[in-house]
Amino acid sequence: MSGVEYAYAKLNLALDILRKREDGYHDLRMVMQSIDLADEVSISPRSEPGMTVSTDLPYLPKDEGNIAAKAASRFFAVSGLPPVGLSIDIKKRIPVCAGMAGGSSDGAAVLRVLRRMYAPDMPEERLAEIGALVGSDVPFCVHGGAMLAEGRGECLSPLPSLPPCWLVVCKPAYSVSTPELFSKVQVKKLRCHPDIPGMAAALEQGDLEGVARRLYNVFEDVLPRKYHQIFEIKSTLLGLGAMAASMTGSGPTVFGLFRDHSPAVQAVEVLTAQYPSVYLCRPL
Ligand code: C5P
Repeated sequence: MSGVEYAYAKLNLALDILRKREDGYHDLRMVMQSIDLADEVSISPRSEPGMTVSTDLPYLPKDEGNIAAKAASRFFAVSGLPPVGLSIDIKKRIPVCAGMAGGSSDGAAVLRVLRRMYAPDMPEERLAEIGALVGSDVPFCVHGGAMLAEGRGECLSPLPSLPPCWLVVCKPAYSVSTPELFSKVQVKKLRCHPDIPGMAAALEQGDLEGVARRLYNVFEDVLPRKYHQIFEIKSTLLGLGAMAASMTGSGPTVFGLFRDHSPAVQAVEVLTAQYPSVYLCRPL
């Protein structure tokens, strides 16, 4: 038996940092939204023990350094099921190190496939707990949709997804190190914080305008100047009619929220001429 699963990317509609914790992580409050940009994760058992990972991006790790293999190991270790040798193949579509949970989503897809293959009675909550051992964004990716995420990112409360809209997603050519950006944050010095209860209420009411008004990521406040393209992409999106634009996660990807299709398509055309990774997406 083998299994295939889509691993969906996420965007942060809001991201707030509340405090630094004793364990080195930060307590966060975020609104996360899955979108229809996805990797394809295939798993098949093999006769030899251990895991191999192959991807269409040769520079990604092929062993336990890959979050997909780590997720598979944790699945067997925590569930107590006898480990099975596995080949994991990932067709990457989500940009890497982009703030879109590409790796976490692959890990979550592995967990979902393994549950289907070996533990169909395991509740999704249990799968998300295993995910939390693999990475902070993995529990969200196990469930998907729209969620309020708190704690390290693993305390999740479901929200209604964004009302129908278009998301223009653009990643500059470089990447931003997540731990490095967290290290720049002094919580007391953050100038403003997103209105997350207001955003949750806007989602409950299907109020796209209300969500757009509250799109905000505190990481933008501490970005070093060398990442100025992030602000240039935001300006371009706003100039081309986006209702709002924000960076997702620890960046560097930026997205713009559009009510209508044709200005979103125009924004994709303009940005594609300047940046390597531009996508027209919809919320799931
Ligand atoms: O959990 P994950 O491996 O995805 O986190 C990557 C890094 O991001 C952590 O090592 C930590 O530096 C930072 N982080 C944090 N607080 C969080 C999530 C991540 O400081 N809530």
